[in-house]
Amino acid sequence: MSTPGHYFESMYSDSSDPWDFATAWYELRRYGLIVASLPEQRYRVCFEPACSVGVLTEMLAARCDEVHGVDVVDTAAEEARRRLARAGVTTAHVRTADALDPWPRATCDLLVLSEFLYYTPVAELDGLLTGLLRLVEPGGTVVACHWLGRSPDHACTGEDVHAALAERGDLTLLAHHREEGFLLEVFRR
Ligand SMILES: C[S@@+](CC[C@H](N)C(=O)[O-])C[C@H]1O[C@@H](n2cnc3c(N)ncnc32)[C@H](O)[C@@H]1O
Repeated sequence: MSTPGHYFESMYSDSSDPWDFATAWYELRRYGLIVASLPEQRYRVCFEPACSVGVLTEMLAARCDEVHGVDVVDTAAEEARRRLARAGVTTAHVRTADALDPWPRATCDLLVLSEFLYYTPVAELDGLLTGLLRLVEPGGTVVACHWLGRSPDHACTGEDVHAALAERGDLTLLAHHREEGFLLEVFRR
């Protein structure tokens, strides 16, 4: 079973930024690596499912004409919108929605999957990826970055996620960066 929505609701009811995305050097450096790994200088439309409080969303906005983030938790999406407004970013838009809810844009040329796919059981990963990759234009970039530790709230591991990505016949691996803590991979759709 995927990690249920009420788990994330309870995380955000205890703290507006439960993973310290806005302040932890580990996360800020990881976001910097994600953005630096993108092969194109500019992207037209980026989709960032599970965008949380929008720290990476704001960084992506500097490289993209439009960024569309979604998070299942309303307070997280609100916090992301506040962050973007404070930063004067008008080209990034965050909605409260599931990653697979119908998307307002036809396609994107950048899909960002950061610390998200391990909430889905291994047996369901390929189906989720099929739904998400449907949005990515041929030739578009898919970047995935996942922690390699174990957590009881995860339905699978970061290694499982990247193994599922490696199985996809519709993705070509462009870059692979492994550290003790996380794996970052960039693909061409
Ligand atoms: C660990 S945080 C990752 C945030 C961000 N992507 C990052 O790398 O910093 C996981 C987020 O995924 C959101 N989430 C979980 N399942 C989701 C789903 N099916 N659709 C949209 N958001 C989801 C949670 O609410 C939470 O904010």
